[in-house]
Amino acid sequence: MSAKRAVAVLLSGRGSNMVALAEAAARPDYPARIVTVLSDKADAPGLSRARALGLPAGVVARAQHPSKPAFEAALDAELRAAGAEFICLAGFMRLLSAAFLAGWHDRVLNIHPSLLPAFKGLSAQAQALAAGVRIAGCTVHIVRPEMDAGPIIAQAAVPVLADDSLDRLEARILAAEHRLYPRALALFCQGRVRLTDGRARVDAPTPAPTALYNPPAD
Ligand code: GAR
Repeated sequence: MSAKRAVAVLLSGRGSNMVALAEAAARPDYPARIVTVLSDKADAPGLSRARALGLPAGVVARAQHPSKPAFEAALDAELRAAGAEFICLAGFMRLLSAAFLAGWHDRVLNIHPSLLPAFKGLSAQAQALAAGVRIAGCTVHIVRPEMDAGPIIAQAAVPVLADDSLDRLEARILAAEHRLYPRALALFCQGRVRLTDGRARVDAPTPAPTALYNPPAD
């Protein structure tokens, strides 16, 4: 197969999506390799998880830079030094500016724990519970400067159960995230995601035309 694409992962916390991407990338037939894992938080657990997987990991802390442009310039320099072609945001809890994104045009992906455009921002799973929706999920999209916005590459839907706690719903969505993100990144790295009129067209098998019913249909 053709060479693996060089992908950087940015995170701020736990790093479970980074691990899912790294495990996929370790497969010989996967079309991406992780060239660096960077965090804006020195104490992010995801950094030690990355190092335990043998991945280069580093910190670019906002507090160590006098301004957002200076912070983003340092981040940009680290990403380019690592040879990254694409960036995966994986629980990276900062908005990247239009200026930063212009240097990575259509080359930054994000995962968000809702069926966008519903429930943008923090605590999307809690927002879903509070809204009383019966179906929740997660989305991988190309990043635009606005929060949790941009062309959608892939989504997964999960039911919200009647007695769901926030923990249980988060865990169900997170399990879907761990399958969805590696799948979406693979399609992206294989050049099977094309942008037209602000929407992503994805060259992938057609799913079975079935619905997820909640409550279940008869
Ligand atoms: C994930 O649920 C991800 O979807 C979410 O943060 C969590 C990070 O978990 N991202 C956002 O809410 C972005 N708006 P992880 O560090 O274990 O991958």
